[in-house]
Amino acid sequence: MNTFKALESVKTDQGNKLSIIEKSIDSLPEGELLIKVAYSSLNYKDALSASGAPGVTKNYPHVPGIDAVGKVTESADEEFKEGDSVIVTGYDLGMNTSGGFGEYIRIPSAWAIKLPDGLSEKESMSLGTAGLTAGLSVQALSDFNLAEDFTQSKSIVTGSTGGVGSIALMLLAKLGSEVTAVTGKQDQKKLLSDLGAAEIISREELSEVSRKPIGKPIWDFGVDVVSGDILSLLLASLKPGGAVACSGLVGGPSFESSIFPFILRGNALLGIDSVEIALHRKAQVWENFAADWRLDLSGLVNEVKLEDLEKEISTILEGNQVGRVLVNLES
Ligand SMILES: NC(=O)c1ccc[n+]([C@@H]2O[C@H](COP(=O)([O-])OP(=O)(O)OC[C@H]3O[C@@H](n4cnc5c(N)ncnc54)[C@H](OP(=O)(O)O)[C@@H]3O)[C@@H](O)[C@H]2O)c1
Repeated sequence: MNTFKALESVKTDQGNKLSIIEKSIDSLPEGELLIKVAYSSLNYKDALSASGAPGVTKNYPHVPGIDAVGKVTESADEEFKEGDSVIVTGYDLGMNTSGGFGEYIRIPSAWAIKLPDGLSEKESMSLGTAGLTAGLSVQALSDFNLAEDFTQSKSIVTGSTGGVGSIALMLLAKLGSEVTAVTGKQDQKKLLSDLGAAEIISREELSEVSRKPIGKPIWDFGVDVVSGDILSLLLASLKPGGAVACSGLVGGPSFESSIFPFILRGNALLGIDSVEIALHRKAQVWENFAADWRLDLSGLVNEVKLEDLEKEISTILEGNQVGRVLVNLES
């Protein structure tokens, strides 16, 4: 078989259009590994790429999908054998390299991580880049605080029904932190409480309890995907020695702060990049999720096929996605 099924985005005068196409394996870029994709997942960035938003994908037609797991079918690197299960996230996958919303990808072997024992292909993509980012955020907070564990701590997570937020919430709660979930979706309180939230507040309630430029010290740790005013409020309400890990900008790219949290409380703002960091740092997070950080994501995952993705892309762009969208390319 020399062709495969993929979801392609094409630029038109009426905006980008999505369709399922048959693509030739020969049209894939060069790389040491050809991989038959089993699962991908939907992240906010995929929706930006699919819809032609500036700053993500330069050249169309394009197959998005920044995440993929699957089996190696051809390898020009002796580290990888045919049949090995590998995880690929970030770098240029799905940006300008044909991505995981297709049944095959061809990539440099320097982007691939062997699926660790203890994690299934399906579990790895239920986590996907969102899970990796949540894991990197929690790791950065723990490294900053030299915390052996999160017991006795109070944390706050924003965008808590979304991909990064929901997994950060679950992980912090599993590690023993008392987590406040900030959400715009008042109808999702049951889900957030099932995921481990001790307290659920609206974005408006956050602005009532936190005062800028510096307010009452409430939280030890924050995981933020929103930026803007929400991030300003988080920074203003950290306890001494506390920190916020920031990874996203769904609320806009800019935020205001003052010097007070930094010089009066020794707080820190920790930037998280899940895309370009060294492969061994990604591998460590996957190892953690296969062992001490194991999460039951079954209540969080909506499994779809390529044909269903267009609707899910619109939902995530509107900020209305709940949990994780797992894309099954095998059924
Ligand atoms: N730095 C990195 O490497 C990295 C990696 C992954 C993702 N990201 C970024 O992180 C962000 C989240 O990604 P994701 O995949 O988790 O997206 P997502 O699934 O859409 O989650 C985002 C959540 O944020 C909340 N939200 C949406 N619009 C908002 C607004 N205008 N104001 C306040 N809250 C809003 C919503 O949750 P509630 O309704 O519960 O509030 C939404 O579900 C994106 O900006 C993405 O690009 C960065």
